[in-house]
Amino acid sequence: MNSITKVGIAGMGFYVPETIVANTDLEARMDTTDEWIRTRTGILERRVAADTEATSDLGVKAANRALADADIDPESIDLIVCATSSPDMAFPATACLIQDRIGAKNAGAFDLSAVCSGFLFAFVTGANMISSGQARRVLVVAAEKFTSLLDCEDRSTYVLMGDGAGAVVLTAEAEQGKIISTCLGTDSSGIEYLLIPAGGSAMPTSHETINQRQHYMKMNGPEIYKFGVRSIGESISEVLTRAGLDESQLDLIIPHQANIRIIESASKRFNLPLEKFFINIDKYSNTSAASVPIALVEAKQNGRLHPGMHIALVTFGAGLTWGAAILKW
Ligand code: ACO
Repeated sequence: MNSITKVGIAGMGFYVPETIVANTDLEARMDTTDEWIRTRTGILERRVAADTEATSDLGVKAANRALADADIDPESIDLIVCATSSPDMAFPATACLIQDRIGAKNAGAFDLSAVCSGFLFAFVTGANMISSGQARRVLVVAAEKFTSLLDCEDRSTYVLMGDGAGAVVLTAEAEQGKIISTCLGTDSSGIEYLLIPAGGSAMPTSHETINQRQHYMKMNGPEIYKFGVRSIGESISEVLTRAGLDESQLDLIIPHQANIRIIESASKRFNLPLEKFFINIDKYSNTSAASVPIALVEAKQNGRLHPGMHIALVTFGAGLTWGAAILKW
C-alpha cells in the first residue's frame, strides 16, 4: 500500500449555470436537429454561462459547495489546483482568482491543463501533494466555460459542449472516496485531432487568425470517438490491475460525459455492464474537465454511492490524454 491510498474526499460540490439551452433551441441557430444531436450523442440540453459569468465564477460556486460539504474553513486549505482549458485570462491562473474569492488566503494556487482529462490530473496531483507531506488539505476545482471556445458556425462541435464546474476537498483524514489506484497517460501522436490552433505563442492573435476562426476548438470527431472507447476500457483495466481488483468488484463507473455512444461502445467492447456507468450527459452535455466531478457529485445526490463501494473515475481528452482512478467509498 502506498501513501496516496491514505487520501480521500472530505467534501464535494458542483455548479452549473442557470441558462438551459435545449437541442431545439440550437435548431433555430444553426443547421442541426434535436434528433441528430440526441441520437449521435445522447445530449438533450446543456447549461451555458451568462456573458457576465467567467470560468472562475463557476469554480467559486462549486468550491464553496465542496468546502461547505467538507465543513472546512477555506483558510485551512493549503493548495488549490484548478483544471481548466477555458481560463478567465492567459494569466494569472484561474486558481488565483478562485483563491481570492473563497478566502483561502493560506493556499498556493495554480492551474493545470489537460483539457477533458484535467480533473483526473489535478486530483492525482493534489492527492500526491498530501501523501508527500507538501499539503494537508487540497481543493481540486475543475471549471469550464467551454462554450467560449466554440465556433457558432461549426455545427459539428458547437452542439457538443456546455459549461459547469465541480470541486472536491482532499484530505488524509477523509473516510470516503479513499484512493486505491490511479493512472494518467498521454499519447501526443494525436495532438492534431483536438486543438485550438490560435491565441497562444505558436499562433498569436491577429486579424487574420480571427478572420480564419482559428481561436475555436477543432476536432476530428471519428478519431476522438475511437480513442474515447479504447481509453475508457484500457484505463479502467489498468487501474483495476493496479488495485488488485477485477471487473466484477467494480460497483460504479463515473466516465467522462463526451458521448453516450462512446460509453455504450466501451461497455460492450470491454464487458463493463452499462448499468454500472453513471450518465448525465443528457442534461449537461460535455463540460470538459468538469464532467467527471459533476457526475460524481450527482451520483452521490442520486443515492448511487454507498459505503464500501469500489468506484472508477475515468476520462479522456485532448493531448491526447487519459486518466482513471479507483476509489473506495
Ligand atoms: N447536426 C446535424 N448534422 C451534423 C451535425 C449537427 N450538429 N454535426 C455534424 N453533422 C453532419 C456532418 O456534416 C456529416 O454530414 P455529411 O455526412 O453529409 O458530411 C455527418 O453529420 C456526420 O455524421 P456521422 O458520421 O454520423 O457523425 P458521427 O457518428 O461521427 O458523430 C460525433 C459525430 C458526434 C462528433 C462523434 O464523432 C463523436 O462523438 N466524436 C467524439 C467527440 C468527443 O468525444 N469529443 C470530446 C471532446 S474532449 C475534449 O477534450 C474537448
